[in-house]
Order: sequence, then structure tokens, then C-alpha cells
Amino acid sequence: MPSRTARKVTSAKVADQYATHVLPTYGTAPFTLVRGEGSYVWDAENRRYLDFTSGIAVNTLGHCHPEWTRRMTEQMAELVHVSNLFHVPGQGRLAQRLAEKAGPGKAFFCNSGAEANEFLIKLSRLWGRRRNAGEGGRHVVLTAENSFHGRTFGGLSATPQAKVQTGFAPLLEGFRHAPFNDLEAFRKAATEDVAAIMVETIQGEGGIYPATTEFLKGLRALCDERKILLMIDEVQCGIGRTGRFFAYEEAGIVPDAIAMAKGLGGGYPIGAAWVREPFTDLFQPGSHGTTFGGSPLACAAANAVLDIMEQENLLDRVAVQSGPFHEALDGLVRKHSDKVKERRGRGYHVALAVHGDPLALAARLRENGLLVVRGGDDAIRLMPPLTAGPQDLDTAVEIIDFVLGTEPST
Ligand SMILES: Cc1ncc(COP(=O)(O)O)c(C=O)c1O
Repeated sequence: MPSRTARKVTSAKVADQYATHVLPTYGTAPFTLVRGEGSYVWDAENRRYLDFTSGIAVNTLGHCHPEWTRRMTEQMAELVHVSNLFHVPGQGRLAQRLAEKAGPGKAFFCNSGAEANEFLIKLSRLWGRRRNAGEGGRHVVLTAENSFHGRTFGGLSATPQAKVQTGFAPLLEGFRHAPFNDLEAFRKAATEDVAAIMVETIQGEGGIYPATTEFLKGLRALCDERKILLMIDEVQCGIGRTGRFFAYEEAGIVPDAIAMAKGLGGGYPIGAAWVREPFTDLFQPGSHGTTFGGSPLACAAANAVLDIMEQENLLDRVAVQSGPFHEALDGLVRKHSDKVKERRGRGYHVALAVHGDPLALAARLRENGLLVVRGGDDAIRLMPPLTAGPQDLDTAVEIIDFVLGTEPST
């Protein structure tokens, strides 16, 4: 049964409006999604797709999870926005829950991943100033090559990728970069002027490259030794995507600050930064803020996501179900070795690297009912909702197998 919207629009009509009125900053697919349920979405022509984009790692609970929808609807009828001039009950509860997961510390709420990283960058400036007892001096943020930290000026200055930075010079001063997973290079780059190191636990936009445990442990030791903040960007890989609430937990480290967003609201925008004690007093009233951050509705979304993750035991399910999923994908790598190079990633945060054009493969998969996202230069990313079960995972593997089997070798 097509939704009300589906009866009103056609993909062609929407494409027309886009061509005339929407700035073409995205490589948007030429069709319109109008309805979702669980792991599936429907386009305006009522074609069904298995959605392994999850809105770029956002739809933790799939589309329109009934309990999440009920809680959001209730909250909308009660209170949507009041600003941070007042206490928002859901915000306190959410902050407490993040501290239960991350450790003793405090949270700041915003609306996106880039904003969460802006907070971390500002935190590092405050830390550098305190550490040097004055202005300037220690302020450099060291980030990894092939990373992605967002499109704000802080985020893009932290992101050493031409496609992100080109055209926007002069960039923000005070960023240095070293090769990912190269601890020795980070040690060399972490000179007296460095206030913080900021890395993703798994480079997502870069193509799903996990940090090694030795690298993360080594960074923790380096930061302790030189009194540098270790700031972890979990915007894409966090909130259960790897089968752990935070992906860095696997390495057994505790960061000094964490940026999160995407999956936290399950589809409603919310970002958060968590700061470990004893760094929580670096920000003072008036030193940072955002009008919409941590609204009643945004916090209701995130609290519902966390509740449902617990009720449905989603972390364990992802951890268990990703074993056979990865094995099946590795089987595809062996079977179609002329087209597929390797599988990368953990849990439901996976990439298949291909010899040919990943966008062409993504388009063929879409024609066959599976939505995926490009990752880096050579890969497609598979990011099912955490609610996806074995049947969804098997269906995705079957579609990929079929498409690779009918593609000419590259
Ligand atoms: C690791 C990482 N950090 C930051 C961002 C920026 O998040 P947002 O698009 O919500 O601003 C992204 C987005 O893809 C990301 O993957």
C-alpha cells in the first residue's frame, strides 16, 4: 500500500525540482524514497529496497521502529523545544547514560557530528591554554591521513583530504596530520605545540579502516606521557555499530573526549560530546552553546534508541550475527576475486573493496534492490540497521553475489 506521499510524488517530478532549486552538493541517487519499515525502504514508484545505507549509519533501529515512533510521537505532543535556558529532563538522563557507558565525565549536546567535533577542537584549545598557562603555544590538533571529521571549518581543517578541503583555503590554522595506524609517525608529529590527538576508531568515509589495538593503546600512552588529550571521533562507528557501544572499547582504552552523532538519535538529529574527568571544567557558562542542542525531542529520540538497544539486546545480536555475515562476505571475496579485493571492518560497519568503480557497483546493486554507500576510493560500505537479522544479511549477500556474477571482470 503506497504511503500518502508516495501517491503524490513521482521520482521524476522530485528530480525536476532538485535540478532547478536544490544546490547540487551531493551525488544524489536519481530517485525518491518515500516510506520505510525495518530494513526496507520504498521509492515513489513503490519499488522496495533493502537499505544497507541506514541513512549513512544513522537508522540504528531501522526505519520507523514502532516503539521509537511511539515515544517520539508522545514527546512531540508533550514538548519539542525549549532551548538550554532551561533544564531538559531527558538531557540529564541521556548524559548520565553516556557517562555510564564512557566513564566518569560530562556531556555536551549538539545537532550533528561536525558540531560534536567542533566541540572537541575547542576543548583542545582550552586545554592547550591551561597546560601552557596562557594564550597560544600548545594548540595543534594532530589527526590521521584519510580521516573524515566533518564539513565545518574545524572539521574540514582536521580532514586532510583534497575533496573536502579544495576551494576553501585559507583553512583553520593548527592542524597536523600523520599516517593512520602509524604510531611512530604520531610520536614524531606530537611535538611541544600539540594539544590533542583526534582519530576515528574506524575510518568510515575513508573506506572502513579500523585502528589497530596497538595504535589506540599506543596513542593513549603517548597522550598520557605528553599530557595531550586523546579525542576519539565515534560519529560513524559508535552507538553499537560494531557490536560494542563505542568501537574503541575493543582496544580497552579510555579516551579523554568522544564525539558522537549519527546513530544516537536513530534518525532524529542529535550530536554529543563526552568529556572525561578531570577535563570537564575547561568549559564554563557562556563558553560554548547551540540553540537546538539536546532538545526534549532529540533527547527522547536518543533515550528511546538506548532503551530499545537494551530491550532487544542489539549489541549482542550484532556481535553474534556479524560472524556469519563476515564469513559470507569473505566467501564472496574468494569467489569473485577478479572483482573484489577484500572485506574490511567490524560488526555492521563493513566495506567490500573492489577492483573496479565502487559507484558503478552501487548502482547495479540498487537496480537489484540493495542500497549501499560508497566508502573511500575503492569500496562500497554495508551498514545495515542494528535490528537487521540473518535473513536481511543473507539477502544482501545473495544480491551482491548475483550482481558480481553477472558483471564483466574489471
Ligand atoms: C567520523 C565522522 N565524523 C564526523 C562526521 C560529520 O558528521 P555530520 O555529517 O553529522 O556533520 C562524519 C560524517 O560522515 C563522520 O563519519
